[in-house]
Amino acid sequence: MTQDELKEAVACAALAYVVEGKIVGVGTGSTARLFIEALAGMKDKIAGAVASSDDTKKRLEGHGIKVFDLNDVTDIPVYIDGADEINVAMHMIKGGGGALTREKIVSAVAQKFVCIVDGSKLVDVLGRFPLPVEVIPMARAYVARELVRLGGAPIVREGVITDNGNIILDVEGLQIVDPVDLETRINQIVGVVSSGLFARRPADVCLLGTSSGVRTMTAD
Ligand code: A5P
Repeated sequence: MTQDELKEAVACAALAYVVEGKIVGVGTGSTARLFIEALAGMKDKIAGAVASSDDTKKRLEGHGIKVFDLNDVTDIPVYIDGADEINVAMHMIKGGGGALTREKIVSAVAQKFVCIVDGSKLVDVLGRFPLPVEVIPMARAYVARELVRLGGAPIVREGVITDNGNIILDVEGLQIVDPVDLETRINQIVGVVSSGLFARRPADVCLLGTSSGVRTMTAD
């Protein structure tokens, strides 16, 4: 199976976690886009969605799915999104598509995080994929120096401004052996909006696309 077919398989499998009559949180990226396509087939069975990016909002509305402002919603039974890397503890690196902050906010509200990835995203140690960090533009140089102190090599993502009007530093060279600790340290740097390390709030379920089918993993 191709990587796209594996993504499609997990995107369709995620429909089983959508709670009928409720609002679903929807992520961003190529796998989340396939999930949106699949979700369109059951749009009359859900109350609507909360989107993690302007792109996702547009796509959901394009399918006639009602998109709620997060501030008007308290109950999101499930958030469904892809990841750039995930480990067996369900810690993830996200933000390759630049939507990390809104993804982190929507997933914080959701009761359950279902991560949908093809098998190539499962790693022993997070960090080969550069860790995205969203930063207030005037703090760019300061935050970069602090990230170097943490052992990384930050690079400005050229030409990218997030939906929130900020920049992204992609941090290379990290071997993240303690994801919760690193997430906490990065959160404490003044000028950081959020990092793409999702460890303090890991996924609850990972649907992993493999050539032998969709494997369901939980942290337990
Ligand atoms: C978007 O900002 C990201 O967090 C994506 O969820 C992540 O990059 C995975 O994207 P793909 O599904 O395109 O691999």
